[in-house]
Amino acid sequence: MTDKTSNQMWGGRFAAGPDAIMEAINASIGFDQRMAAQDIAGSRAHAAMLAAAGVITDNDAEAIREGLLTVLSEIESGQFQFSTALEDIHMNVESRLKEIIGEPAGRLHTGRSRNDQVATDFKLWVRDQLDAAAKGLEALIAALVDQAEAGADWVMPGFTHLQVAQPVTWGHHMMAYVEMFGRDLSRVRDARARMNESPLGSAALAGTSFPIDRDMTANALGFDRPTANSLDAVSDRDFALEFLSVASICAMHLSRFAEELVIWSSAQFRFVTLSDRFSTGSSIMPQKKNPDAAELIRAKVGRIFGANTALMMVMKGLPLAYSKDMQEDKEQVFDAADNWMLALAAMQGMVKDMSANRDSLAAAAGSGFSTATDLADWMVRVLKVPFRDAHHVTGALVAMAESRGVDLPDLSLEDMKSVHDGITEDIFTVLGVENSVNSRTSYGGTAPIEVRAQVARWKEILG
Ligand code: ARG
Repeated sequence: MTDKTSNQMWGGRFAAGPDAIMEAINASIGFDQRMAAQDIAGSRAHAAMLAAAGVITDNDAEAIREGLLTVLSEIESGQFQFSTALEDIHMNVESRLKEIIGEPAGRLHTGRSRNDQVATDFKLWVRDQLDAAAKGLEALIAALVDQAEAGADWVMPGFTHLQVAQPVTWGHHMMAYVEMFGRDLSRVRDARARMNESPLGSAALAGTSFPIDRDMTANALGFDRPTANSLDAVSDRDFALEFLSVASICAMHLSRFAEELVIWSSAQFRFVTLSDRFSTGSSIMPQKKNPDAAELIRAKVGRIFGANTALMMVMKGLPLAYSKDMQEDKEQVFDAADNWMLALAAMQGMVKDMSANRDSLAAAAGSGFSTATDLADWMVRVLKVPFRDAHHVTGALVAMAESRGVDLPDLSLEDMKSVHDGITEDIFTVLGVENSVNSRTSYGGTAPIEVRAQVARWKEILG
């Protein structure tokens, strides 16, 4: 007989229980209890399959099924006593099942191992998060499309190098983010499709001699098929890494938009007003309204990308098959998932509530010689001047306007002619920002007509 303090699940060959520090470093129950529902779903599918395959009796399978439902309700209602000595969610559930139903509980672990069990549970958990991310992205995209539709023809400055470049439309700027988040959504769907193979039944690493039906369990758990190599299946965490890299790219996009909102909501810009619901005040400066949500979203990419890097480092160089290193996968993914979902929801709320200050946008749209390219293009189109020469002439006119502290449309025709005598009155029609944006009708361009076409396309996609 083994020492009573040795582990009741695997302690058969042990004379003594683990040191307290061993137990502390070994246990994952502190965090993997988040996979309880997935663990129980996997066990229910496994038990039903074992009975169908004749490995356990129908009576045992029924007792297991009932018992697992009781365990689940105990966990959901907060009554369940998690034990560090029982290491992880898998052994906590099985041990409690034994207390409830007795001997049949011991048959549940036939033809499987914690290695395929944890891979299955974790995949199911990550899959749920991908589905939640898809919903969050769809809601955010819809909010951006609404903003774009409302302001399809509102002019604002477009920037490169954060210097005024050319006038664009508010709708066009909003739709740029729709494209980014649309690619994120497509990556989420790709990742989900690729990961959706069931590891269950790969057992410890080599498969099992029991006549299990892996298609049946895969099907019951909503997987497309079973994994095709048991060694790979128990040691694969690509799905978690893909989740983190998709999350990282999306968080990077979120941070870019968040940064724009921080800039735009400043007194210097006043491009947008964030709602009170998504702003905070200062405890010392009564006038302040701070874009804290945007700043925190901007920061989230740090921890999400950190999680991605951390798990890459955990997995790097691991020999086949399962190694305990892999237990370090979950906290990174849990933290990244929580923060990604929160950032998506906060961004969606901010976008939905914010109002663009149309007058400030329009006033800024004409500043910084933003229609200089239109002037040069006019010379190319009307005077047949080579673009390089037109660029040079326009540069001279910009310098003239700048030295007088005025904008391009404020120069007189004589001023223009002094630099290039072919210029006619007609030039003034292209110097207005409205004309400028209306003229950019190339596919994907900033013209309101193009923006509206993209809005319509996305509304169709979103259904
Ligand atoms: N708690 C473990 C983990 O998260 C479960 C798998 C343990 N397997 C083993 N052979 N010790 O990775």
